[in-house]
Amino acid sequence: MKNIVVLVSGSGSNLQRIIDCCASGEIPNARVSLVVADRECYGLERAEMAGIKTMLIKRGKDFSDKLDSVVPENTDLIVLAGFLSILSQEFTQKFEGKIINIHPSLLPKYGGKGMWGHYVHEAVAAAGEKESGATVHFVTAGVDEGEIILQGKFDIMPGDTAEDLAKKVHSVEYDIFPEGIRRALAILK
Ligand code: GAR
Repeated sequence: MKNIVVLVSGSGSNLQRIIDCCASGEIPNARVSLVVADRECYGLERAEMAGIKTMLIKRGKDFSDKLDSVVPENTDLIVLAGFLSILSQEFTQKFEGKIINIHPSLLPKYGGKGMWGHYVHEAVAAAGEKESGATVHFVTAGVDEGEIILQGKFDIMPGDTAEDLAKKVHSVEYDIFPEGIRRALAILK
């Protein structure tokens, strides 16, 4: 059984998808062993409702060091599911090849520091892009720069607002995240 630690900062709908896919076998032979949040958020409540151990480590300079001290020895994969803090270089190097993230754009477009959640959708809408999507990628010290595992995309319709894009991106995320996690687990270092 593979052990997955999930990091969250928000509503945790992607976390819920991961929990459900582990239960249904869509992500086979894996379980979420711990959910860590960097702030109070609904993601923590979802984890508690599913009977998963949770931890709140307040965001800040020493977040990564504290996280390092609580990640269980038997952890196979660390999954960032709507997680908004930036992990330290020491942490990302220590767990290289074992941390993945979902990002709400077609990277390398609309990635990097400050590009998260609604900021991404607003920028995509303002730029008049014809398509958008989501990316599952490995996490390295460079924000949103790690190797891409897979992407899913959709066409942007005339009149689509940032809110419309957020909904469409979430739906793509629910599609590709389980597959991204399966692939990452299959090629673990
Ligand atoms: C998701 O769209 C995810 O891609 C994005 O936050 C949302 C979280 O939704 N992550 C980032 O922007 C990170 N750069 P959720 O809490 O409902 O899963």
